[in-house]
Amino acid sequence: MPPGPAAYAEAAGILAAGGLVALPTETVYGLGGDAGNDAAVASIFAAKGRPSFNPLIVHVVDAAAADAYARVDERARRAMELWWPGPLTLVLPRRPAARLSLLVSAGLDTVALRSPAHPVAQALLRTCGRPVAAPSANRSGHVSPTTPMHVADEFPDGGGARLKLILAGGRCTIGVESTVLDLTGERPLLLRPGSVTKEELEAVLGPVDLATAADGVKAPGMMTSHYAPGLPVRLDATDVAADEALLAFGPDQFLRGGAVRLNLSATGDLTEAAANLFAMLRALDRPGLSGIAVMPVPDRGLGAAINDRLRRAAAPRG
Ligand code: TXA
Ligand code: MG
Repeated sequence: MPPGPAAYAEAAGILAAGGLVALPTETVYGLGGDAGNDAAVASIFAAKGRPSFNPLIVHVVDAAAADAYARVDERARRAMELWWPGPLTLVLPRRPAARLSLLVSAGLDTVALRSPAHPVAQALLRTCGRPVAAPSANRSGHVSPTTPMHVADEFPDGGGARLKLILAGGRCTIGVESTVLDLTGERPLLLRPGSVTKEELEAVLGPVDLATAADGVKAPGMMTSHYAPGLPVRLDATDVAADEALLAFGPDQFLRGGAVRLNLSATGDLTEAAANLFAMLRALDRPGLSGIAVMPVPDRGLGAAINDRLRRAAAPRG
């Protein structure tokens, strides 16, 4: 059952009092707090164990609400018209007078804004009437949550009793985090691939650069190990050991062996694979196994976002 008016009123009350509420979005579940309240934003960082140099996305109800917090140029306006509400986050110049905690920007003079399409997220934003800072609702570095149960698993003690309520909104339909596009420079810079692809952005905005290690200051959350299950992850597997889990993609009948197997999409559908990715990584993360072997996923379309998450899941742990 979707949350009713009483649940939204309760959630808005928690946010107004500086508490945290987990909310569903079409990408992943978020750990939300009032973006204008320093203590609330600080408690998001504390609950996640997130380094304070990694800024948060501020969720707004619509494009009109964005103007209060950022300078929205023609390019940003166009992108909002086309993709909001939806899985696109825009990094924009922050208005100095914005009534936002400085912590959400982690000291940068920019702010990341997104208007989520999920009806529960929309209803919450409308009810509370405030922007909501919300990173993915997982402990820093872990796999992102795509169901309310994943959120509960990540914060068994409610994140030190900071997380007061999980609004349930079913399984996230997209399953990988929003595309993050930096529009503060002359050329758009893709900080994180997502379901709005580089090709789709370029068709509207012209050439888009891909962020590299050299963009570390602009993209503080980009480089390190992330999305990591407990087990080691091995990419581009063409075989699987008896004590390994197999995360397959496409027809997998030729890969024999393995202790347990799940298929992201037996038909090779990238949309289905993205929606399954994080839940399957969690499900295969079992004690007693030596690792998770992952079959290759093509890099086209949504595959770029899937491979980005898989590479970081497999990156050396910090
Ligand atoms: O799909 C999503 O975007 C989800 C849902 C809950 O909306 N949120 C999410 O938040 O993935 P988080 O905090 O896990 O990832 C935010 C990313 C990080 O890589 C962070 O470094 C980047 O956005 N970011 C946030 N503010 C930024 C800024 N001002 N400049 C550059 N990057 C920024
Ligand atoms: Mg995250």
